[in-house]
Amino acid sequence: MEYKSLLPFPKNFLWGASSSAYQSEGAWDEDGKGKSVQDVVEVHEGIADWKVASDHYHRYKEDIALLAEMGLKVYRFSIAWTRIIPDGDGDINPKGVAHYHKVIDECLKYGIEPVVTLYHFDLPYALEEKYGGWRSRQCIDAFERYAEVCFKEYGSKVKYFLTINEQNMMVMFNLGNFENEKVKYQANHHMLVAQAKAMIKCHEVCSAKIAPAPNITAIYPLTSSPADNLASIDYDQLRNRLYLDVSVFGEYPQALRRFLEERDLFPIVVQEDWSILKQGSPDFIAFNYYGAFTVRAIGEQEGIDFKEANKEATAENMANFMMGFMTEPGIAQSLDNPLQEQTPMKMAIDPIGLRITMRQLWERYRLPLFISENGCGVSDELTADGKVHDDYRIDYLRRHILACQEAISDGIDLIGYSPWSAFDLISTHQGIKKRYGFIYVNRDDQDLKDLKRIPKDSFYWYQQVIKTNGTKLS
Ligand code: BG6
Repeated sequence: MEYKSLLPFPKNFLWGASSSAYQSEGAWDEDGKGKSVQDVVEVHEGIADWKVASDHYHRYKEDIALLAEMGLKVYRFSIAWTRIIPDGDGDINPKGVAHYHKVIDECLKYGIEPVVTLYHFDLPYALEEKYGGWRSRQCIDAFERYAEVCFKEYGSKVKYFLTINEQNMMVMFNLGNFENEKVKYQANHHMLVAQAKAMIKCHEVCSAKIAPAPNITAIYPLTSSPADNLASIDYDQLRNRLYLDVSVFGEYPQALRRFLEERDLFPIVVQEDWSILKQGSPDFIAFNYYGAFTVRAIGEQEGIDFKEANKEATAENMANFMMGFMTEPGIAQSLDNPLQEQTPMKMAIDPIGLRITMRQLWERYRLPLFISENGCGVSDELTADGKVHDDYRIDYLRRHILACQEAISDGIDLIGYSPWSAFDLISTHQGIKKRYGFIYVNRDDQDLKDLKRIPKDSFYWYQQVIKTNGTKLS
């Protein structure tokens, strides 16, 4: 709905920016760090020296000073589990523990509150080797112990922890290379229990607040047909509610549960899991948002055929290959939405979708919301004047921040907005040529150059936004 005037951002609104360890730190084998699953995948091939990333491990002081100059109230970053416990569940590495004390202290020195993600796609590789990763319940214990170490070490300084980044994307894109759907849903269940145990532990050990951080988005039906509308509700259970209903209510969504049980895909749940899932509850919901999804109804056989036809990636069918991952036979097929704007790198631009997503989250869960990622990945150009004129990013962010203000006017308790990314870092699968940062990092995929930090135009724009608490968006 349209209001005659919008409510202002709350006084203590958490203006932030985000990063993750493996995409920014580099120093992948320094100071006792163990290997994570990211350090062994080949997906980064073709990107020279990706393991240096943005060299944030060595340059965190310079980076945080710039983030302070931009005026950030919060900096969201992740701890590399393999720096704290190199083999996942063995000895604690004092140098790794000390490093994050320094990062946290550096933030606090400038009055920036750290928002700390415990696990952002970088499971210790040793856990994969020893136990098959999340396939095993041993990973639950390993994560609980690692989380406890973090709460005990940092819990007196950190007010906000996030458990697992985008568990739903790890599952839907099968990032654990699970051999079949049954194993995939079992691994997912183990992550949900591990997360619940970490939330319980956090509440026992410190006074920080804790939240899950899935990628959540509204689901649009492709047409106004009743079947597509139902498909969008069902797909919402699969993509969003499977993760948040379990974290908040300790229950699997009913229809999805029956769908999985009928196909013998529902995980084995040991009795005590139910009480753990009920007991472990978040204080707020963090979520990453990049654009709403559009689906149409698809029958089981048609869906299987579609996935089968697109299971190998080729240059010609890349879009269908990706959508194959997101299609669930018998529920819905995910599709491009011709009415949704896109960035040049084919990501959605949909601020209205952000407002709808927040409305749905608020109406379902009544918990404060924190946007832990949102952003515009583009191949920025460093121009002859030594600057980056990223007016497209400013426009993107302005429209999404306006959607935040509209959501606040809708009555939603939105506590913060932390776009991706604080500075340029390595994209999950498109190198550093896909840049999201407010600060340019002078390197490219083939040449490390000098890694110099150069504030982009969006840096100065966001500085004004923060300074005026969102009243000066243009
Ligand atoms: C989110 C992840 O999925 O999106 C980040 O949490 C990621 O790690 C970001 O970098 C942007 O996606 P991509 O693939 O463009 O890097």
